[in-house]
Amino acid sequence: MTVELSLRGIRAGYGAVEILHGLDIDVPAGALTALLGPNGAGKTTLLSVVAGLLPLRAGEMSWRGRDLGRLSPDARARAGMLLVPERRGIFPALSVRDNLEIFAAGVIDLEPAHSAFPVLAQRLSQQAGSLSGGEQQMLAMSRVLVRRPRLLLLDEISLGLAPRVARLLFDVVGQLAHDGTTVVLVDQYLSDALRLADVVYVLSRGELAFAGEPGELTGKALPGFVGRVRAG
Ligand SMILES: Nc1ncnc2c1ncn2[C@@H]1O[C@H](COP(=O)(O)OP(=O)(O)OP(=O)(O)O)[C@@H](O)[C@H]1O
Ligand SMILES: [Mg+2]
Repeated sequence: MTVELSLRGIRAGYGAVEILHGLDIDVPAGALTALLGPNGAGKTTLLSVVAGLLPLRAGEMSWRGRDLGRLSPDARARAGMLLVPERRGIFPALSVRDNLEIFAAGVIDLEPAHSAFPVLAQRLSQQAGSLSGGEQQMLAMSRVLVRRPRLLLLDEISLGLAPRVARLLFDVVGQLAHDGTTVVLVDQYLSDALRLADVVYVLSRGELAFAGEPGELTGKALPGFVGRVRAG
């Protein structure tokens, strides 16, 4: 297994409060890593640190052998890192077509997004903010399909969506990982994320409660989660 992203002793927080208390995480290349945990565990905080949106207070981050801490957020993006944030990161006042063109940055063709999400192809002139929640999340995922990142960070893409829409999005993510994209997928415990994952990390109050393969989670009681994880 080649490690794409290596995180060692990661500490970060907001103001006087430390949220991440020294995390060690290895993200394998070309595979899907699920990062699970209850509300407030620090999942979004961790993705923000990796993307360079929040400073690292202690620890080391290495991306394909390079010291990530030395790269600005835009340098990380140019090197192929892409974060789809919790609130989707689309431009609600612009049309679907304008959003897609901004994501594509004038380079790549939009066909992969149109074929993955035909419903969007029929709504190119519609204002993105007036799309349904599921359609907005498809638009956010379209950015991934036109950019083809090397390291993809996805924050709760299925939040609040109908199971059918969530499954469509997860299928796209699974295909990307299958095609060699390194994916870090933040989600709830009980979701398709677990089914797709090669490696799972569970975060609780800024510390790791589990690290291993999804099968090892079966039957375990997890922090902030009622009941035990059932076999997928
Ligand atoms: N900008 C901020 N300023 C201060 N505290 C923050 C800020 N953002 C997050 N926090 C706090 O950091 C902790 C971790 O939040 P974070 O958003 O990383 O959790 P999460 O695991 O993504 O949760 P969720 O599943 O609800 O999205 C929470 O206690 C939260 O209140
Ligand atoms: Mg979050």
